[in-house]
Amino acid sequence: MRFHIVTFGCQMNVHDSDWLSRALLARGWTPASEQEADLVVLNTCSVREKPEQKVHSALGRLGTAFRNRPRSFAAVGGCVAQQLGTELLRKYPFVRLVFGSDGIAEAPNALERLAQEPGTQLALLDFLKKYPEREAAWDGPASSYQDGPGPAQCFVNIMQGCDNFCAYCIVPYTRGRQKSRHPDAVLAECRRQLERGVREITLLGQNVNSYGQDPGGAGMNFAELLHKVAALPGLERLRFTTSHPKDIAPEVVRAFGELSNLCPHLHLPLQSGSDAVLRRMGRKYDTERYLGIVESLRQARPDIALGTDLIVGFPGETEEDFLATLEIMREVRFESSFSFKYSDRPGVAAVNMTPKVTPEVASDRLARLQELQNVITSEALESRVGTRCDVLLDGPSKVQSGDGMHWRGRDPAGRVVNVPLSTDWNEKSLAGKMLPVRVVEAKKHSLRGEYLGEPW
Ligand code: SAH
Ligand code: SF4
Ligand code: F3S
Repeated sequence: MRFHIVTFGCQMNVHDSDWLSRALLARGWTPASEQEADLVVLNTCSVREKPEQKVHSALGRLGTAFRNRPRSFAAVGGCVAQQLGTELLRKYPFVRLVFGSDGIAEAPNALERLAQEPGTQLALLDFLKKYPEREAAWDGPASSYQDGPGPAQCFVNIMQGCDNFCAYCIVPYTRGRQKSRHPDAVLAECRRQLERGVREITLLGQNVNSYGQDPGGAGMNFAELLHKVAALPGLERLRFTTSHPKDIAPEVVRAFGELSNLCPHLHLPLQSGSDAVLRRMGRKYDTERYLGIVESLRQARPDIALGTDLIVGFPGETEEDFLATLEIMREVRFESSFSFKYSDRPGVAAVNMTPKVTPEVASDRLARLQELQNVITSEALESRVGTRCDVLLDGPSKVQSGDGMHWRGRDPAGRVVNVPLSTDWNEKSLAGKMLPVRVVEAKKHSLRGEYLGEPW
């Protein structure tokens, strides 16, 4: 059987697709293009209206393509599958499996069964009480999944779900209640990955700072888990995402100063710079508290690079509220931000909040915000010129010029660095190697580095 996976959404989905791809490879399935695949999996996101629409248009496209390939079928996983469930099976008969975030553990076996039983449809949508452990699919052949992490990097899930119910957010409905994974399972997977040659691990969860606040964490909190993972032999870079500011413990902030392999980067979603908006969003912190966290992070690790998520046009957001967001962006100087126009989602509290901000006003605010972000990002990148760092190489750069090869990787803070290397290196695979460089130029969204010594 030939399969193809299309992924929408966050890193959790990217990680899930990577795992599913490996689990199918281990069963003897082979990767193929969407046009040639017997099975097309859509791993979906419903956090805003647009990604949800993309799923429907992808299904429309598959419906037409499958008319000439009656043996091909589709599976829909992720948040839209959880949200719409069996409605998808009814509406699109060529969809023969829907699976949610807990159901994915059983998806490879279900797909094997469906390949044997034409005409059958299955749904794996139940939420389980405990974190659903999955088969280890890491030892088999390399994943065919292109959006996955680099050769020396991996994600490790530490929890699933979210209990925060921020007023705008559908995630608690699509991913269910928070369930921490047992620390022994987390550590065993990390060890296994390090034995395979992984050098950088990103711990994943919707809200990692509340790890262990449910029974699944076996009494361990996030700071303790972080220390345990950081101490594993061979781990050179450790990251985690995502963090809710209200739950970040002082021990986690301090860890940035204590753990040398914890990367100097934190994604800390702010959402808005207006206290009134934050209150209506149900975020349970105000800007003063947020700025206090930023200050203590910088005390612990002066070179920490901060990233954030911002929403414009939340119901009731005034021009003044919006200006407060721009103000705090200037104050914190986030190196990067993901910014979104508020989008009504079914069943969330903000649906009933008024007045709605018009799409024109929201678009205008988003453009102004992104313009400011570009300036701050450029200045931050510019300030790196002249410094030295180790770059973990992912692969050849997208743009090549001259006889030598340009390689692309990331510095410890996660900034993209491109490095031209002489023809001596053309034949060698440097993916997964660490390269010492001096930063010589800042581009709009990346840096250019100069080779300083042997890759290791
Ligand atoms: N668990 C993560 C967020 C997951 S959703 C966290 O709490 O940080 C990723 C981002 O999407 C959110 O941070 C938020 O900025 C944005 N988002 C969520 N729901 C949204 C909505 N209804 N409209 C616009 N943006 C939204
Ligand atoms: Fe959504 Fe809030 Fe949970 Fe993040 S913390 S997933 S924004 S409800
Ligand atoms: Fe999207 Fe679900 Fe992730 S809604 S952002 S795929 S948790």
